[in-house]
Amino acid sequence: MADGARRKSWWLEGNFAPVEQEVEALDLPVEGALPPELSGVFMRTGPNPARAATAHWFLGDGMLHGLRLERGKARWYRNRYVDTKLRKENILPRDPAIFMDKLASTANTNIVRHAGRILALEEAHFPYEVTPELGTVGPIDFDGKLKTALTAHPKICPETGEMLAFGYGFVPPFLVYHRFDAAGRLVQSEEIPVGGPTMIHDFSATRTKVVFMDLPIVFDLEQAMTGGMPYRWSDDYPARLGVMPREGTAKDLQWFSIPSCYVFHPLNAYDEGETVVVDVARYEKMWVKGFDEPARLHRFRLDLPGGRARGETLFDEPIEFPRICDAYAGLKNRFGYAVTTHAGDDAGFKLGTRIVKFDLDRHAVTGAEFGRGRFPGEPVFAAAGYGEDDGFLLTFVFDAGRNASEFVALDAKNLSAGPVARVPLPQRVPFGFHGAWFAD
Ligand SMILES: [Fe+2]
Repeated sequence: MADGARRKSWWLEGNFAPVEQEVEALDLPVEGALPPELSGVFMRTGPNPARAATAHWFLGDGMLHGLRLERGKARWYRNRYVDTKLRKENILPRDPAIFMDKLASTANTNIVRHAGRILALEEAHFPYEVTPELGTVGPIDFDGKLKTALTAHPKICPETGEMLAFGYGFVPPFLVYHRFDAAGRLVQSEEIPVGGPTMIHDFSATRTKVVFMDLPIVFDLEQAMTGGMPYRWSDDYPARLGVMPREGTAKDLQWFSIPSCYVFHPLNAYDEGETVVVDVARYEKMWVKGFDEPARLHRFRLDLPGGRARGETLFDEPIEFPRICDAYAGLKNRFGYAVTTHAGDDAGFKLGTRIVKFDLDRHAVTGAEFGRGRFPGEPVFAAAGYGEDDGFLLTFVFDAGRNASEFVALDAKNLSAGPVARVPLPQRVPFGFHGAWFAD
């Protein structure tokens, strides 16, 4: 990071740069045919640091981009900041005080719907509730029961409706597990002992277990005080995965040593007899220089009776933002989707021009290629039936040649056929993080 910080701020340039305006367009023209079975809102959040330069891509004010689909029509597009305390009180995300204030979220990382509420999330703070129209309701602390920050990557069980999550921080307790019931009530919080404060972006859940990642991106006070990313790579911190029953406590934890690596995002995890299978986008290293080594889809098999972990890289494609059909979360899945990435000669994060579909049963890859200078984001699966790939992949695509963005829908059964529908947007959509499809 110290090295990276002296270079140009790649996250403020090109399509990482913020847009200046909140705009709205009604009844947008559609090229191709929007699937008539999709009625709802496609929403995506990401950093939009228009107030001041930020010290890292991860630290800009969260902006939502939303497209409302209704029976084959694109009813509206709009982009709106999440109206956070940071914006209301003009606190800059580089102010180190934000790390001590749970309300000081950028809300820039992910959006999920649980128990009828849409949550805009960022992992160092409380969630903000937002509306399907992209309005901001406000921060939530679950009736005062949430005592830690909340991860941006909770897991919603398709069978029980529970939301499984955690919070982490750089002061003890470093990691706390949280379980929410189907009505959105926080019903369990358990401290998870770890070796020190590390950055824990995501975790995994199966039908019966949760899996924590204790990996060597460690807290760095010096970097925190300068307002930069307060975490760095460590060659010394041992990498482990921790398995715990979903309703268990710390005494039920079983830790598995794994070779050093970093993971932002798992694809999915599931039980296979006495083994827990965890598929992730795995980096050999992270932030030694920057995003210099791309991630690849990697499978950990955690043998519970033997206490041993085995790992193998499943595919060579460099990828990020892996997603599945959410109805298969925690269950055995056959398909996974991701956007391609590539290594660069500087510290920046480099999106590729392809969305890929992994067939994990047949070890096959298919994809949609968008062409030179056209960069898709995270592919969000919108179900249109009951089969695992019976639906559409939704994303925003940036076209560098035209400095413009469009919404794209792909048939998940046939990516190589290209988009079934494209909706040109009135303003470019900066590269961001995660999205969701909220069906009516
Ligand atoms: Fe993420």
